[in-house]
Amino acid sequence: MTYSHAIAAARLARLLLFVTIGIALSASVAVAQTFTPRDESPEEFPAGAGRDETFYTCTACHGFKLVAAQGMNRRQWDDSINWMMEKHRMPPLEAKERDAVLNYLEAAFPPRAPAGGGGFQNPFMKR
Ligand code: HEC
Repeated sequence: MTYSHAIAAARLARLLLFVTIGIALSASVAVAQTFTPRDESPEEFPAGAGRDETFYTCTACHGFKLVAAQGMNRRQWDDSINWMMEKHRMPPLEAKERDAVLNYLEAAFPPRAPAGGGGFQNPFMKR
C-alpha cells in the first residue's frame, strides 16, 4: 500500500467510525423519546373517575409526575389547561372531556397546605 492509499484508508475508517457513532446516538435518542413517558402507567396515580383519560391526555406531551406534583383547586386546574393550550399548543378538549379531566384533577390533586406557612403560589398566575 502506498502512503497516499494508507491515508485514504485511514480517512475512510474514521468516516465509518463517525457514521456508526452517529447512528448509535440517534437510535438512543429515538429510544429515549419513545420510552420516557411510557414508563409511567395510570395505575401509579390515585384511583378515580377519569384517571385514564386524564393520564393519556396529558402524557401526550409530558410525564404525569409533572401533573401529580401540583396541587390545585378546580379553577386553577382549569387555568393550567388554558395555559397548556395557549403556551404549548395543547389541542382543545371537548367540553365533556375537559369536565372529566377537571373532575379527576380536582379530586386527585387538591391544593395542599403550604409547608412552613409560605402561602400557595399558583405557578400559572404569576405573569
Ligand atoms: C400539547 C402538549 C401538552 C399537553 C397535551 C399537556 N401539556 Fe402540560 N406542559 C406542556 C409543556 C411544553 C410544559 C412545560 C415544559 C415541561 O416542563 O415539560 C408543560 C408543563 C406542565 C406543568 C408544569 C408547570 C410548572 O410550573 O412546572 C403542569 C402542571 C402541566 N403541564 C399540566 C398539564 C395537564 C394537567 C395536562 C393534561 C390535562 C397537560 N399538562 C397536557 C405541554 C403540554
